[in-house]
Amino acid sequence: MSRPVPIRLRIALAAAVAALLALALLLIPRDSAPPATADNPNDAIEARIDDWLSRMTLQQKLGQLQQLDADFPSGRLRDDQLQLVREGRLGSTLNGRGAAATNAAQRVALEESSLRIPLLFSFDVIHGYRTVFPVPLGEASSWDPAAAELSASIAAQEARAAGVAWTFAPMVDVTRDPRWGRIVEGAGEDSYLGSVFSAARVHGFQGDDYSRPDRVAATAKHWVAYGGTEAGRDYNTVDVSDRRLREFYFPPFRAAVDAGVATFMTSFNEVNGVPATANPYVLRDVLRREWGFDGPVVSDYTAIRELIIHGVAADDADAAQLAVNAGTDIEMVSRTIAENGERLVAEGKLSEATIDEAVRHVLRLKYRLGLFDRPYVDASREAAVLSDPQHRREARRIAGRSMVLLKNDGGALPLSRDLRKVALVGPLADSQVDMMGTWIGDGKESDVVTIRDGLEQVYGSRNVRYAQGCDAPCRSSGGFGNALAAVRSSQAAVVVLGEPWDWSGEASARSRIDLPGKQEQLLKAIAATGKPYVVVLMNGRPLTIDWAARHAPAIVEAWYPGSEAGNAVADVLTGKVDPGGKLPVTFPRSTGQIPIHYDEKPTGRPFDPANKYTSKYLDVDNTPLYPFGFGLSYTRFALSDLSVSPGTIDADGSVSVSATVRNVGRRAGDEVVQLYLRDRVASVTRPVRSLRGFSRVTLQPGASQRVTFRLDRDDLALLDASGRSVVEPGAFTVWVSNSSVGGLEASFTVE
Ligand code: GLC
Repeated sequence: MSRPVPIRLRIALAAAVAALLALALLLIPRDSAPPATADNPNDAIEARIDDWLSRMTLQQKLGQLQQLDADFPSGRLRDDQLQLVREGRLGSTLNGRGAAATNAAQRVALEESSLRIPLLFSFDVIHGYRTVFPVPLGEASSWDPAAAELSASIAAQEARAAGVAWTFAPMVDVTRDPRWGRIVEGAGEDSYLGSVFSAARVHGFQGDDYSRPDRVAATAKHWVAYGGTEAGRDYNTVDVSDRRLREFYFPPFRAAVDAGVATFMTSFNEVNGVPATANPYVLRDVLRREWGFDGPVVSDYTAIRELIIHGVAADDADAAQLAVNAGTDIEMVSRTIAENGERLVAEGKLSEATIDEAVRHVLRLKYRLGLFDRPYVDASREAAVLSDPQHRREARRIAGRSMVLLKNDGGALPLSRDLRKVALVGPLADSQVDMMGTWIGDGKESDVVTIRDGLEQVYGSRNVRYAQGCDAPCRSSGGFGNALAAVRSSQAAVVVLGEPWDWSGEASARSRIDLPGKQEQLLKAIAATGKPYVVVLMNGRPLTIDWAARHAPAIVEAWYPGSEAGNAVADVLTGKVDPGGKLPVTFPRSTGQIPIHYDEKPTGRPFDPANKYTSKYLDVDNTPLYPFGFGLSYTRFALSDLSVSPGTIDADGSVSVSATVRNVGRRAGDEVVQLYLRDRVASVTRPVRSLRGFSRVTLQPGASQRVTFRLDRDDLALLDASGRSVVEPGAFTVWVSNSSVGGLEASFTVE
């Protein structure tokens, strides 16, 4: 029979077991929730989040909803911000960047706080982190979504290597108002083109797993209809029909959701009387319930506190309550939620369940980013990734594909590479800062190749005669003499005109969209010398350049090409690269025509020059200066053999549309073959044309290619008067064209 264990020994054994258990609990990482029972990784994440929520104080939960603006120049968090991190009261930062700075702040979160939830570092990586690519409107001019995806993936590699795991891009706002400075940040005026580029950029930033060390979480912004701001004035009122929301503004955001975008950002504007940041219709009804989006929504910069200025919130507490209850999760920079959340919960104005839902969105993002497993970045990789020469080569290539040849009379372009005396004049010809445009991320002016650098690479510095003529605003003609002297002493002149980089982008609306100041006067003086010249435009929006369009021998729209601007412009000007881009936005003849866009409705009295009583202006040619989808090439292309089959389909059927494009010129070049559609008779009015497909092809002289598009239900559907998506029977016209004007025409019928 076994002897009883002496009591003292039993007590000692029990104490030892308890100590071992306590030690084991201490050693288990805090983020490891009880082992998930489900085999679904999402369930495992949700179980971990449940565990976090069960252990967090309300103040710590509110902390996860707070985002603050780190020191921009250094990328480091301020001491007061680090103290909030220690107290578990800061979830993410804006502008915190650089491997050393982010690792240092992360160490505070993981080693000096009781909570030990990793910090999330966000930054505006809009068109590049250190290697700056063309501005998004320029990249959209390539009509090459693969290029946009690649540039976003390179930006992601560089950003994540620098500790940034979340970018506030892509901006997917469509707009028909070039007075609005933020037109430069998107893909132009068309919802279809905008949707294609939205998906491409989300894929580029995120890949299929954004926990990888070369990917970042993307943001669809600015939700929603920011591009509809009245009069093109930034931050202004947006009041549009639900039809306009769903047919025009929503699709690029829906494309981002379908591409798996990780986050959304609300817009500053009101949407039909309710500011987007506190708008349950767009934030909950559409985004969550209709579309099933499950990531966090971050406000724009102080947009929650601005609810007071909008006049819908009486004070900070009111603003916080409205925003969180409407579905905004993270507060950027203002602190209304952090400072009032506990009282709002105590007063029953905010439920802790609503707070938990917002915190869940944030923690889910951090898990999906892999931050709990790999919170630090390998600082030894940063310098090499940011200076990867392949990134510069791609920036040069994509910049070349982004340029649009607007005019080329008499083969003024390309320039001979044998020229011995080339004048280079104009305010933007040698300005490093202006080459990158707005939102340049961590781009460095010193890295930028200017057009002067690029042309001197080709012709030699002795053969390039540079004279600025005037600065970008060009209020003085004092420098015109030197510029004209350079032109007169040269064989040909390259004239670089356009807007200063900060005349487009945020808070940069213009009431007139002419060339700034005396630039046109400079151009006229150059023309008057009788010397051959070509114009290069660098701008963040369409410009009303009527005189240049009528008189300049050649015009290249270069937008802001980025770090490799000068090499890319030189490649195009000398014919090494064919400028095969197309306009993603209409160029008006005058500001008074705005909004002017290719996909207008027919009206009952469409413009007819022979009939006074039709929709037109008396004082301007009622066509655009350059239409959507327009762009020339150094060669010429012909479209032929349009076929549509079958000729009749039912409402769920699809149609194949094919045509042959041939290079009928003497040089290789690119063409963007575009497919447009019109529903001839429907229960609601339909645009005179809608883009429904495009393909950029490169062809050698004499070569041809058969291009085929497929139209299916989503392409043919419309929202009927009750808002239902339907394909209605009747005749449809299709065009295959090289712009939104003209082209080969055919029709088919839906039974
Ligand atoms: C700005 C912009 C937004 C940007 C954010 C953070 O005000 O509206 O696009 O992502 O603040 O910089």
